[in-house]
Amino acid sequence: MRLVQTVSELRQCLDGLTPPVFVPTMGNLHEGHLALTRQARATGRPVVVSVFVNPLQFGPDEDYARYPRTLAADCALLEREGVELVFAPAVQELYPEPQRFMVQPPLADELCGAFRPGHFAGVCTVVLKLFNLVRPAVAVFGKKDYQQLFLIRAMVRQLNLPIDILAGETVRAADGLALSSRNAYLSPEQRAEAPRLYRVLQWIGARLAAGEADLAELEAAARQSLVAHDWQVDYVSIRSQATLLAPQPHERDLVVLAAARLGQTRLIDNLELSLP
Ligand code: PAF
Repeated sequence: MRLVQTVSELRQCLDGLTPPVFVPTMGNLHEGHLALTRQARATGRPVVVSVFVNPLQFGPDEDYARYPRTLAADCALLEREGVELVFAPAVQELYPEPQRFMVQPPLADELCGAFRPGHFAGVCTVVLKLFNLVRPAVAVFGKKDYQQLFLIRAMVRQLNLPIDILAGETVRAADGLALSSRNAYLSPEQRAEAPRLYRVLQWIGARLAAGEADLAELEAAARQSLVAHDWQVDYVSIRSQATLLAPQPHERDLVVLAAARLGQTRLIDNLELSLP
């Protein structure tokens, strides 16, 4: 496995290589990321992983400065997974001048976008830059960041990028908590409380499957049960998988998404469901 940190080294390594499969990450890798690299490897293409904590996607009061940076440990894990190439540029390498051209995605004021202004513009911009540098045939994104995956797919489609996007299932701890680098911020008490987020989504899923049609009431009840356990809830929302907007009455393929904070730690999760 090679670790490269500059664009010119990356270009040299990619020269003559079969168009790779790409897994963009912000590092601090856990089983969720490793599952994505395994899915990438199963395509039979060389696997390129980027490790870059992208300042453009963090708000001024967010955790950019304290986001865990663990490149040596990440590389050791990726080497074991048979990854060919790791691209871990410094901020100055990817943004040698202030980034003025930005991808402005749709739905940027919805769901997480409503609480993280500029976040998805930052994500789409860095992902487009990384796509242009790595020139992958395939890229893999986790379903845990559902809105991100939706927007990357839309960007690839609408900008005619010749890249197949694969979606990786969310990897969960035994108690249901979705794996996330931010779980490391949780105190032991918060960690014990955190699986409630997924349980609430499952409860909504069960009610919808049982024929409950009042979505607003379900969302409100779910929010209430989180608030009762000291969560600060950004949103709990039942959406269409196809549009990520409020579902039409006939829509059966739904996704329940939630974002809420325990103390300073913001957790997100989602549950896809197809009603009979
Ligand atoms: O999902 C992430 O880790 C990041 O948003 C991504 C896609 C690597 C862009 O910085």
